[in-house]
Amino acid sequence: MHITMVKKRLASGEPCRKCVQAEDLLRKRGLWDQIDEVVWAEETNAKSAGMVLAREHKVEAAPFYLVRGEDGSVTIFVSALKLIKTHLMAAKPITAEFKFEAVRSTLAHATPQEVVRHALEAFGAECAIAFSGSDDVVLLELAAQTGLPFTVLVVDTGRLHPETYRFIEEVRNHYGIEIHTTAPKPSELEPLVRHKGLFSFFEDGHEECCHIRKVLPLRRALGGYRAWMTGQRKDQSLSTRADLELVEEDVTFDGLSGPLVKFNPIANWSRDLLWQYIRDHELPHNALHHRGFSSIGCEPCTRAVLPGQHEREGRWWWEDEGAKECGLHPAKGRA
Ligand code: ADX
Ligand code: SF4
Repeated sequence: MHITMVKKRLASGEPCRKCVQAEDLLRKRGLWDQIDEVVWAEETNAKSAGMVLAREHKVEAAPFYLVRGEDGSVTIFVSALKLIKTHLMAAKPITAEFKFEAVRSTLAHATPQEVVRHALEAFGAECAIAFSGSDDVVLLELAAQTGLPFTVLVVDTGRLHPETYRFIEEVRNHYGIEIHTTAPKPSELEPLVRHKGLFSFFEDGHEECCHIRKVLPLRRALGGYRAWMTGQRKDQSLSTRADLELVEEDVTFDGLSGPLVKFNPIANWSRDLLWQYIRDHELPHNALHHRGFSSIGCEPCTRAVLPGQHEREGRWWWEDEGAKECGLHPAKGRA
């Protein structure tokens, strides 16, 4: 296999911004050595090698990549992530290399702080911390305490509470971090809304809407990572989360190099312990928690709970207890 990266040089003499970002990405992931050749498409010179290749292969984007196979085939990529996933890391599925049993025994008695540190030391910014805008803010606090680079990912379903959007912004400012968001594709969402309206979940269950608004966007985003971290806890659901582990092979999503490693650092914390931590450390929190909301998801599908009610009773309350998973975290045995 021979990989050529075609970069564009602007009339100013500078490389195009996307070309610089793509090279940075490849270097950060330690994959730059696998690019065999860089060819320039000079904006001011239609005869430059890169311009010729762009015309020959009818590519208008920059940068792009030509992968020449041993059999003489040529495949064009305009996305560095797709190139990475298809060719550069395809040979190394992370879950084949990752020593789950050894890590589990190392972390058997670990605190959430130690689990977060372990995840970030192993994967750094290639571990996406999935932040729902609720009390899982504790993950961001623990990540910030490590001083290591980390990435925060929010699935913006388009149906979150105004308070949640404000809280996400507050968290962004509080920790001085970037928040990566992923959202439903209009082409997937529009047919649902056109045919069934905006509240179909009250009629025929939340699965279809959750699949389009949550699962598919998260699947697309996680395709760029090797691990992810969630704020799930065992005590959130006896029927679906009781056997949650601190570190698992994800059964739902694929990352850059095949299945993802999934960390659940606060799996063993109770809700009381979590809130003790939030109060003791004066962490920012979603204003809805002051109005009786406990577990917070999308606005139409979340309501406040009474004292003594379980937090999940405020989620998809019109459905059976056993059905209360949206597809991000299928219970073991029903992936
Ligand atoms: S859900 O599957 O029922 O919606 P829940 O609200 O319990 O999930 O949240 C569990 C964990 O899933 C969160 O701590 C977070 O890691 C992840 N998660 C849930 N919703 C989102 C979201 N909108 N964006 C990012 N991560 C999310
Ligand atoms: Fe749709 Fe409700 Fe699921 Fe949000 S929680 S994606 S609004 S069904």
